[in-house]
Amino acid sequence: MSAIESVLVENRVFPPGEALTKAARISGMSAYEALCAEADKNPDEFWGRQARENLLWSKPFTRVLDESNKPFYKWFDDGQLNASANCLDRHIGTPVENKTAIIFEADDGAVTKVTYKELLARVSRFANGLKAHGIQKGDRVLIYMPMTIEGVVAMQACARIGATHSVVFGGFSAKALQERIIDVGAVAVVTANYQMRGGKELPLKAVVDEALSMPGCESVKSVFVYERTPTACTLAVGRDKTFTELLQGQSDECAPVAVDAEHPLFVLYTSGSTGKPKGVQHATGGYLLWAKMTMDWTFDLKDSDIFWCTADIGWITGHTYVAYGPLAAGATQIVFEGVPTYPDAGRFWQMIERHKCTIFYTAPTAIRSLIKASETNEKVHPKNWDLTSLRILGSVGEPINPEAWIWYHKHVGGERCPVVDTFWQTETGGHVITPLPGATPLVPGSCTLPLPGIAAAIVDEAANDVPNGSGGILVIKKPWPSMIRTIWGDPERFKKSYFPEELKGYYLAGDGAVRDAERGYFRITGRIDDVLNVSGHRMGTMEIESALVAKTDLVAEAAVVGRPDDTTGEAICAFVVLKRSLPQGDEAREIAKQLRDWVAKEIGPIAKPKDIRFGENLPKTRSGKIMRRLLRSLAKGEAITQDTSTLENPQILTQLDQTY
Ligand code: WTA
Repeated sequence: MSAIESVLVENRVFPPGEALTKAARISGMSAYEALCAEADKNPDEFWGRQARENLLWSKPFTRVLDESNKPFYKWFDDGQLNASANCLDRHIGTPVENKTAIIFEADDGAVTKVTYKELLARVSRFANGLKAHGIQKGDRVLIYMPMTIEGVVAMQACARIGATHSVVFGGFSAKALQERIIDVGAVAVVTANYQMRGGKELPLKAVVDEALSMPGCESVKSVFVYERTPTACTLAVGRDKTFTELLQGQSDECAPVAVDAEHPLFVLYTSGSTGKPKGVQHATGGYLLWAKMTMDWTFDLKDSDIFWCTADIGWITGHTYVAYGPLAAGATQIVFEGVPTYPDAGRFWQMIERHKCTIFYTAPTAIRSLIKASETNEKVHPKNWDLTSLRILGSVGEPINPEAWIWYHKHVGGERCPVVDTFWQTETGGHVITPLPGATPLVPGSCTLPLPGIAAAIVDEAANDVPNGSGGILVIKKPWPSMIRTIWGDPERFKKSYFPEELKGYYLAGDGAVRDAERGYFRITGRIDDVLNVSGHRMGTMEIESALVAKTDLVAEAAVVGRPDDTTGEAICAFVVLKRSLPQGDEAREIAKQLRDWVAKEIGPIAKPKDIRFGENLPKTRSGKIMRRLLRSLAKGEAITQDTSTLENPQILTQLDQTY
């Protein structure tokens, strides 16, 4: 039985600790239920109160929810605010101003700290630099940066002047960058010469140069380059400036631009079930509200906490729980440049000890790989460090299997820290289903219950509720402030993808789920569309297929499916028909390598198929449809139970059995 499947058999319950419950912001299940009831009874009043209490408004809103053009919901839409003012300026003149906002630990272990006051000055200077280059409210700025203070500063600076940012993860290729630059219509790119990961210096600016040399990127007028390392990079005269040049002579003060609550704070691309990534658009007011509220609720944030979310700013988790949430909540947070396995797999534990981290939030894939590492090397086991500062642990991005949950709880949390298994998506903006550390009895492998105000439910294909114990489609029945507003430039796709007619206006998450009979706890069973989750990263199978068939000199046809993997959750398995005879042995291995390198160039190294299998054809139904279920069985190495009598050429099944 694979680790993922064994989720099905875990029933132990871990009630929250008494001391934690007593001091918690949401203390005990009755407090949780009271909030749910309040949100349910009068959503307008509930959300209106939260928005007034949690955010600073330049112009107060008079209307909470505008449903006149469903599903294009608007929240607080006649109000105005600035996200950066809500993360920084609001703390000035309070005891938080001299509190450390960011403890930055570089790849090589060097530590830099900035206070809220200093961060505000840096963001303001950067914002002035952007303005001096003509960048203004409504412009789009693409950010392709390493995990650094500067990355957060760039995002906040955009928000400060009302420019919409679109952050692209530093692992994406030039081609992926080009597609996003074109789609979002970026006027500027913020990048670094290099990024440091695991002791290696990896180019970023060179990738930007390559992207900008491709057709369609003419909208980009400026490129700003952070000199992360002393190594030189090429700078195009007139277009490119170093950060030193950008910031030279700029003032430390920059008035934040008030924007409408619905003003797009950012567009973040994510994979969907077609070949083209979707630009998920979030609104300033609703998004920021939920970022702040979930910091307080899910992590029970206290003034003394040292919060650490290990996600990269290139993903939604790094947006909400690095760039915005912790700052809006006035927390001290750790930002880490490097990787969990450098210089060895004890890095996370060493950093928790070093910085006295109290809330640690990471992905199951990281936990599973660190479990493996500690099994072969005692010296990197968490027991070698003092982790007693920790009080809450979090998990995000993919289902956490009970074995990993129990290990995390025991060896990292000392059986003292609740593990909040937070379910959410790029589209939801912040947590939607998650335990509360001072309330919810925990069941490993279950994200437990929806947060107050989130009307999550499980329904069948006709939108009818299914009874607990039976699986179905995860939906959210009512709008909430931090929901996706649209897909950038493609409102029709937004409607079709998330509010399909047959679901009666419910938000379709794209995941399957089941509630347990006893508690009604949710357990996510995985995507119901063609989206894979590899190491907590969303990858569309169609996206990878398109990349493979774009290698026109070699590939005739390709189909991509996922299979369970003990470390990465799912692994990418590609079935490929070549335009030449079926390769064998070394030759097949060589072609497989070529294809992996090709996919890395087309999308990024994270999209490289782990398994590649060659066949003279793909298994198809009589009507010519690829039999994906059969491919999934083949990828898993399962016995074939499907009817294969319609296959034109049954021997391809034997060919497709061989992995390269
Ligand atoms: C999956 C990441 C199970 C799910 C925040 C979702 C999870 C997709 C969990 C979104 C969890 C995320 N348990 N599955 N706790 N959290 N997922 O947009 O399939 O990168 O739809 O957002 O990750 O991935 P995304």
